[in-house]
Amino acid sequence: MNSTQPTKLDAAHFDSKAREWDDNPVFVERGLKIAEAIRKAVPLHRQMNVLDYGCGTGLLSFPLKEELGTILLADSSDGMLAVAAEKIAAQGAANMMPMKLDLMADAAPAQRFDLIYSSMTLHHVPDTDAILRIFHDLLNPGGILCIADLDKEDGSFHGPEIDVHHGFDRADLSLRAAKAGFTGMRFQTVFNIAKEQPGGTRDYPVFLMTARRAGA
Ligand SMILES: C[S@@+](CC[C@H](N)C(=O)[O-])C[C@H]1O[C@@H](n2cnc3c(N)ncnc32)[C@H](O)[C@@H]1O
Repeated sequence: MNSTQPTKLDAAHFDSKAREWDDNPVFVERGLKIAEAIRKAVPLHRQMNVLDYGCGTGLLSFPLKEELGTILLADSSDGMLAVAAEKIAAQGAANMMPMKLDLMADAAPAQRFDLIYSSMTLHHVPDTDAILRIFHDLLNPGGILCIADLDKEDGSFHGPEIDVHHGFDRADLSLRAAKAGFTGMRFQTVFNIAKEQPGGTRDYPVFLMTARRAGA
């Protein structure tokens, strides 16, 4: 049968990309720019218990590691986590811990977090409402959620053969976050990914949404 069904980018896909992930200067710069925006938007401190969801090789967390408490680096790809673990060992980053975790399939960890951030992962999670609810429940009262992802696009970023969310409409994501219990949603553009496409270079802006779990 000639299948034209779009395919998901599963853990095996990311396993196969992990070794070369940090060789891509766009990925490195994206991590630095998102880290800078989080630093400006959130009062970070060394007592903060943090979850980096869909951490990959840790390109967002490594730039922030001196400003935070413990950082749980969670990802569903063993390959990504192996690279992250090597970087942790090489840098002696005692406050960073890798963990295999897919919150859509696995039980949520028992611990609670003061800050959850996630870079370029939300579009890979099919059920946006469910993951936002889980993030909300994993945060301490007053805890902060930071989501960096693509603005709504026409599907050309990954191509029609790949089954992912085609970015996010900011107003729609804000409503979904409110439904999950978050307040104070704020958006800013933090990065632009310029990709060569048939017909020329296309820009794919990346937003940062910050939101708060009500409470303390
Ligand atoms: C585009 S990469 C981004 C990696 C990293 N955050 C960065 O900005 O370089 C998406 C990451 O999300 C992970 N991922 C995808 N679906 C996931 C899920 N359901 N649970 C946990 N991680 C997931 C992938 O393994 C991959 O490492």
